[in-house]
Amino acid sequence: MREGAFRDRRRAERDRWAEVDPPPTAERNRGELSGRPYFRSGEDLWRVVSGFGDPREMVKMQKEECERYWRMVHASNTDDLAAVCFPDKPRYFNLFFDRVQKFAVGEFLRRERVRVAGWRWLDLGCGKGRWLRYFSRLGVQACGIDVSGEAVDHCRGLGFAAEQGGIEDLPYGPGAFDATSSVTVLMHLPPSQRERAIAELSRVLVPGGLALLVEATRDSESAHVYGMGVDQWELAFAAQGLSLIHISGHCFGVWRNRLPRWLPFRDRVSIYLDYPVEFALMKARYGKRSDLGWQHVMVFRKRSRE
Ligand SMILES: C[S@@+](CC[C@H](N)C(=O)[O-])C[C@H]1O[C@@H](n2cnc3c(N)ncnc32)[C@H](O)[C@@H]1O
Repeated sequence: MREGAFRDRRRAERDRWAEVDPPPTAERNRGELSGRPYFRSGEDLWRVVSGFGDPREMVKMQKEECERYWRMVHASNTDDLAAVCFPDKPRYFNLFFDRVQKFAVGEFLRRERVRVAGWRWLDLGCGKGRWLRYFSRLGVQACGIDVSGEAVDHCRGLGFAAEQGGIEDLPYGPGAFDATSSVTVLMHLPPSQRERAIAELSRVLVPGGLALLVEATRDSESAHVYGMGVDQWELAFAAQGLSLIHISGHCFGVWRNRLPRWLPFRDRVSIYLDYPVEFALMKARYGKRSDLGWQHVMVFRKRSRE
């Protein structure tokens, strides 16, 4: 898409968003999150400037606000990739992240020689079916669940079985799946909801089944991202009987995080500089935790009952 056309689309999108009521409440997650403060109101700024408050205390959306956010994103985005990656960015930008994530997952399946053909596979937070398409090409029986009716209709239109609902309350029986995937979904759930979702995904997995995650492993300033480090992911899954069997970092953003903000065409320049670096680093750092990576592929196996 031309930059000019993209600017017009962004302007139209911003106007549409301006009509939406601001979220009425916000959840504060003291202690769990660290990093730079996220200010959403004068009250937040005052809390930090006055010293009455923890600067690490970020304001985050609550469950209902998150769900409303996702329904709106899916309803207002004609670009499938923008709806599930960065809604305010052009296609070349989102394609970069799509390719990086798919390469990271593919590396795991290839190098570990995981043969998934015939597996019953549940894609949690399936969005517009990006991963349903990916996994079904590998021969799995893929189905999805998403909170957005718009997204679910889209997946059904592509011929996939998909349910509308929350992943913290899955409408499937125990042991119904050989594998589940969550690509940038659990990271968007407030902590208590995320805990329930992990318990649910464990319930629907067969003993020995795999849970494949592609999630942020750092804090974020965004109101709808709940940061969590690799160790915290590991602990949360261990509590539900799932052991970490693989981890690799990606989304290193070497140039994107370093180029000055004022640089003309900063995104375009950094994305194209990052292409070779990102793929070389993914190869070199396969199987390793990475402080540089913003996301990790994490694979957990459900422990069999002794
Ligand atoms: C960043 S998008 C990722 C979509 C898809 N996994 C992909 O990578 O293309 C997050 C998705 O999770 C869905 N979602 C968010 N909270 C959810 C919940 N509680 N239950 C089910 N789906 C949820 C959103 O509607 C959205 O489609």
